[in-house]
Formats: sequence, C-alpha cells, structure tokens
Amino acid sequence: MLPKFSSRAFLAPMAGVSDPALRLQCKKMGAGLVVTEFTNIHSIVAKEKQFKENMKTIQEFIEFSEQERPLSVQLFGSDLLVLEKAAKIVEPFFDIIDYNMGCPAPHVTRQMAGGALLQEVNLTQQIFQTLVNAVKKPVTLKIRSGVTEASKFLFREIAEIAENEGIQMITLHPRTVSQGYSGNADWNMIKELKEISNMPIVGNGDIITPEDAKTMIDETGCDYVMIGRGAMGNPFLFEQINDYLKTGSYKEYSFTDRLDSFFDYLHLTNNYKIKFANIKTQAMRFTKGVHGGTKLRSKITFSKNIEELEKIMNNAYI
Ligand SMILES: Cc1cc2nc3c(=O)[nH]c(=O)nc-3n(C[C@H](O)[C@H](O)[C@H](O)COP(=O)(O)O)c2cc1C
Repeated sequence: MLPKFSSRAFLAPMAGVSDPALRLQCKKMGAGLVVTEFTNIHSIVAKEKQFKENMKTIQEFIEFSEQERPLSVQLFGSDLLVLEKAAKIVEPFFDIIDYNMGCPAPHVTRQMAGGALLQEVNLTQQIFQTLVNAVKKPVTLKIRSGVTEASKFLFREIAEIAENEGIQMITLHPRTVSQGYSGNADWNMIKELKEISNMPIVGNGDIITPEDAKTMIDETGCDYVMIGRGAMGNPFLFEQINDYLKTGSYKEYSFTDRLDSFFDYLHLTNNYKIKFANIKTQAMRFTKGVHGGTKLRSKITFSKNIEELEKIMNNAYI
C-alpha cells in the first residue's frame, strides 16, 4: 500500500539535482514525496557486494536521511535478473520503489532503459512483473507519453499493463522521448490517463508557479503534481503550492530569502558526499531570476572550492 502523503506536491527525481540535501530542504518546505536521483540497477548490485565486504549498506551509495520519509528510490535498467536483485537490495531502506521509463538521455535509451522501453511492450510487462514479485513495498512508475510523435499515445497501453501487473501509481510527463524538453507538456494526456486508469496519477511537466499546480489539478483531475525544474533552487514552491491550494494565496520570497535558502542547502550538504561541481550548479539555480544574476553566476562558475563559493554567495547579499 502507498504511504500517506502530507501534500499533493511532489519533488521530481532529477539526476545531479535531487540530491539528499535538496530533497530534505524540499521536504521541510512541504513536499509530499521526494524521489532519489535515478540509479542504475547494475551499480546497485555491484556496490552492494563491495559494501557488504566492509559491513556497510547500500545507504553509502544512495544517501538519504530518515527525515525525508516517505522516500521513493528510482531505478533504471532492464536486465530482469539484475533488476530483481537490485530491487531486493534497496527495498528495506525505502518506502516506494519507482521505475524509470522516461529518461531520454541516449546513454540510457541505448541500454534499452528509460524512455526506450515504452515501445517494448513484452519486456515492459516482464519488468513490472519482476519488480512487483520481488518486493513487498509499493512499486510505482514514471513515464513519458511515447517515443516519437507517431507513438505519442504509448502511455495508454503501458498504463494498462502497469495496472494489471500491480503497479500502484504512475507519474506522467506528457512529452515524447524525442521531444526532449521542447514544446509544452500536453496536460490533456494527464487528463486522459486519469480517466482510463484506476490508480493514483501524478501529473508532471512545466509547473513553475503555485497557479500552474492548481491549474493542472483542476484541468486534469490528477491526484498529485510533481515538480522538477520549477523547484530547482526554489524549495519555497512546495509551501507556496500547499498554501495556494488551501487558502488561495501564498507568501512571496525575496532574493535574500533565496540566498539564505542556499546556505541552508550548503549546510545540509555537509552530511553527504555531494560533488562540488553539483553544489556549484545548485548555487547558480538559487540565483535564477535575480538582478545581477548573470554576473554572479559567472563568478560561481570559476569558484574552486566551498570556501570560495561561500564567499561569493555571501557577497551577493545586498
Ligand atoms: C537535470 C534533470 C535531471 C533529471 N533526472 C531525472 C531522473 O533521474 N529520473 C527521472 O525520472 N526524471 C528525471 N528528470 C525529469 C524530471 O523528473 C521531470 O519529469 C521533467 O523535468 C519534467 O518536469 P518539470 O517540467 O517540472 O521539470 C530530470 C530532469 C532534469 C531537468
């Protein structure tokens, strides 16, 4: 059974972005669910072996904290035996096992994983069956609508198979794999998916403001919304969405608040092994839309360590 979610707004899995520090920050700001960055099933199996020898667990590899719960771990990869092993390894640590069938990156689709699977009906069915049989925790799915313009309605068939195999929730990002991030997410597809399926549906794509979140819920009837790019450097969005859905208004945050929020993020990174390059990119996101942001970001690019970065961000306070 799915856990209870405290909010209808979820943080999207984002490789290099939804690290344990940002996830915790979004959780504290009211995200109903946070999802790890996608993780290769082969790496999980390989790391587990290595860690076991040192009496450590997979938590050394996929870092998280208890405060993030309910926490979903996202897997990708389609080798059924490895998938089964990986799912069993992560199951004790996470509340939900999410499966990635949306990633458009060529290094993923070439391994018959991510979005490429949408056109592999038989394999997809075997993947769902393997996962659902391997674990007792709920298994959920994240998909794009199809692979190309000509196959943009593949989500209909995949959702039906998923439901028959016991998948408990689907997130739909209604763009095709070949679309990448161009054009707009077609929210009509989320509405259609909600109408044809009996499980909770998470609508995803192009939510930037609390108003967008409400519009998606009102127009599509989706149960939850998931936010990716809109939450980058902007954990406030979850509180704003929750307030807006409840009261029709929300608190605005200033640039100073965003800088403070970056320092909160930075503080949290101390607890994890997050690459400096990723922290730097996060810093840039916290300066998005700010007067003088371009200049600030070029300084951030050239920072070589945390101390330099901290100094630059400190000097950004007006
Ligand atoms: C930098 C980045 C990394 C992403 N990594 C993942 C990932 O690991 N797993 C996944 O399912 N989707 C991933 N996505 C897709 C997002 O989860 C989301 O579906 C997509 O960005 C659309 O939502 P948005 O318009 O709110 O950003 C990623 C997106 C971005 C921008």
